[in-house]
Amino acid sequence: MATEALALAGINALYADSHVLHDVSFSFNAGRVLALLGRNGAGKTTCMSTIIGFLPPRDGEIRLFGEPIGRLMPETISRKGVGFVPQGRRIFPTLTVRENLTVARQSRGGAAKPWTLDRVCELFPGLKGRLQQPAGSLSGGEQQMLAIGRALMGNPRLLLMDEPSEGLAPRIVAEMRRTIARLKQEGQSIVLVEQNIKLALDLADDVVMLNTGRVAFAGSVDEVRGNEALITQHLGVF
Ligand SMILES: Nc1ncnc2c1ncn2[C@@H]1O[C@H](COP(=O)(O)OP(=O)(O)OP(=O)(O)O)[C@@H](O)[C@H]1O
Ligand SMILES: [Mg+2]
Repeated sequence: MATEALALAGINALYADSHVLHDVSFSFNAGRVLALLGRNGAGKTTCMSTIIGFLPPRDGEIRLFGEPIGRLMPETISRKGVGFVPQGRRIFPTLTVRENLTVARQSRGGAAKPWTLDRVCELFPGLKGRLQQPAGSLSGGEQQMLAIGRALMGNPRLLLMDEPSEGLAPRIVAEMRRTIARLKQEGQSIVLVEQNIKLALDLADDVVMLNTGRVAFAGSVDEVRGNEALITQHLGVF
């Protein structure tokens, strides 16, 4: 039987008295890629903030591999196996590439192929020769790869990626696509937030669309592909 990786059930989240997420519910199974889509301001990053504990939900439940995590502190949620690649990268610019990776190291019992500095360098050969450089001296694409490598060093059971292709040149976006495809092939459970709908639909198994903080669609990628009306209505693009 399939294992549930993540479930949100009836999540309401607010910034002060601004109600952003309204009764958000969705779930997906382990080893799959869930694309979380929506226009600017739809609530995608807020959704990630509730999962990682930065913005605890007012009510509702969040489960990670069956275990409730909605009331836990961010560091506890991270230790339980949620890795996060934030929007806009947020690497530590004055630390070296090596330091950025090693500060994030966490082991997890049962990981078949744990992530190590060597394995991250094999995944991102561009980082290998730059381990001693300050991370702030890397190009935008390299910083994005570093942000992913840093999240992987925590050996996450669930990896959240917030717009990893944002602001990257097409060649780097193609590399990003291959990287995410490889992580998926290795069985990594991933929530992928993307404005690049084509990239997201190429990689995803499951799709959730948010529209003004509400789930407007949840289903399989096959239901979305070719459904121009659905895409135009909730994402405003085609
Ligand atoms: N720290 C905050 N305080 C108050 N309101 C916020 C805060 N962060 C986001 N919001 C508001 O919450 C809503 C959802 O924002 P959010 O950042 O989650 O959207 P998003 O889907 O990630 O958008 P984008 O595609 O632009 O990244 C928006 O109306 C936004 O203005
Ligand atoms: Mg966002």
